[in-house]
Amino acid sequence: MAKAKTTFFCQNCGSQYAKWLGQCTSCKEWNTIVEEIIQKEEKRNWKQNSTKKTNSKALNISEISINKEDRISTKNNEFNRVLGGGLVKGSMLLLGGEPGIGKSTLLLQIALTIPKKVLYVSGEESQSQIKMRAERLQSLHTNCLILTETNTQNIFRAIEEVQPEVVVIDSIQTLYTEYIEASPGSISQIRETTAELIKFAKETATPVLLIGHITKDGNIAGPKILEHMVDVVLQFEGDRNHTYRILRANKNRFGSTAELGIYEMLNVGLREVENPSEILISQKEDDLSGTAIAATLEGVRPLMIEVQALVSTAVYGTPQRSATGYDTKRLNMLLAVLEKRAGFRLGAKDVFLNIAGGIKVDDPAIDLAVIVSILSSNEDMAIPQDYCFAAEIGLAGEIRPVNRIEQRILEAEKLGFHKIFISKFNKISKNRSAIKIVKVAKVEDIFTNLFS
Ligand code: TYD
Ligand code: MG
Repeated sequence: MAKAKTTFFCQNCGSQYAKWLGQCTSCKEWNTIVEEIIQKEEKRNWKQNSTKKTNSKALNISEISINKEDRISTKNNEFNRVLGGGLVKGSMLLLGGEPGIGKSTLLLQIALTIPKKVLYVSGEESQSQIKMRAERLQSLHTNCLILTETNTQNIFRAIEEVQPEVVVIDSIQTLYTEYIEASPGSISQIRETTAELIKFAKETATPVLLIGHITKDGNIAGPKILEHMVDVVLQFEGDRNHTYRILRANKNRFGSTAELGIYEMLNVGLREVENPSEILISQKEDDLSGTAIAATLEGVRPLMIEVQALVSTAVYGTPQRSATGYDTKRLNMLLAVLEKRAGFRLGAKDVFLNIAGGIKVDDPAIDLAVIVSILSSNEDMAIPQDYCFAAEIGLAGEIRPVNRIEQRILEAEKLGFHKIFISKFNKISKNRSAIKIVKVAKVEDIFTNLFS
């Protein structure tokens, strides 16, 4: 009997080595290289390969006809939005997220509502567990078949029998193929089973939705090449202590990656949140100092986000600076700007910053709301609740314009804000009457406008 061939793989990035090493030379992680059994490979040169019969033929680019990709609408508007209009036939989608965030719930919910025949394959839960969950979601759909299986050959057998139009796999880390001896969840199994599923998806034009676990640093467990192999990579994230969940596309071969889906985890499953701005602004009766509302954009979607700051006298020699949902380095920069350009002595103060709703924001338009909330807390003067802010702050204390200002103003107007503060340099074509637009050029201007 031939000796089983083994190779060493880095469990973090998927690099292959001939011998064991303590540190992966490509991703620099320690102790991630593991020996895996792979199948004996026959040595072939490319000419021998080319004798194989094939249906594919090279075409001149001018001869290729474009057929618009066929999409299946999932009845879940947030999901459709993130995908760019629905599931593309024959596409391979990978959904990653922390344990317990709601990946299985989301895909089961989609499987139960999509108007197609679905095969939901689970290697993690039993059929009755899934049935119980489906009952909780209050949607029992007769066109959804549940299979508990982890062997891909058996899965393909079931697929042949059932002829589903959509396949869901929960999760890729539980699958194994008979052709490889490594254990489920190992790099070579993940790579091989994904390759088999991709082949199936492309040949039969059936969309396949995969669930993938993530490692503690937030990457999808398994080789990085897994993300290269699939067409769409979605990330399901959120704070376990909050009920809101955000679905983003990290990669999308058929649409933009800028779109965002927002859900709320209820005891009857995930609810689509159509108007996210409402939930991100905390309801309160009185005006409180230290809060300001930013008109931000996540992708192409406007989001009104509440920024809260607390400024207090520092007890220790070095003042504390802490921020949740916002970059601490950027906070320090804004504090330095306030100190230098506007003469606020914040060096002896602790500053805490929080973005409501457990959301992380990258949009620089939030800067103005950040400094306004800090000033508001420092002066102990509340900002009226119907004011909002959208501008970036420069190092010279200048208030800089942000993109798509019209869209932000429109959203603020729609939600009943009466005043929006923007940069003087933002050009606006139309003059609106319902919302007052205040243009500011420097940090000093905003201070005189609000606090004196
Ligand atoms: P699950 O989909 O199993 O997470 P994942 O597959 O990402 O590991 O979600 C599990 C969590 O969701 C669990 O803590 C219970 C909660 N949940 C609800 O709050 N409401 C529901 O209707 C369901 C089905 C789950
Ligand atoms: Mg799960």
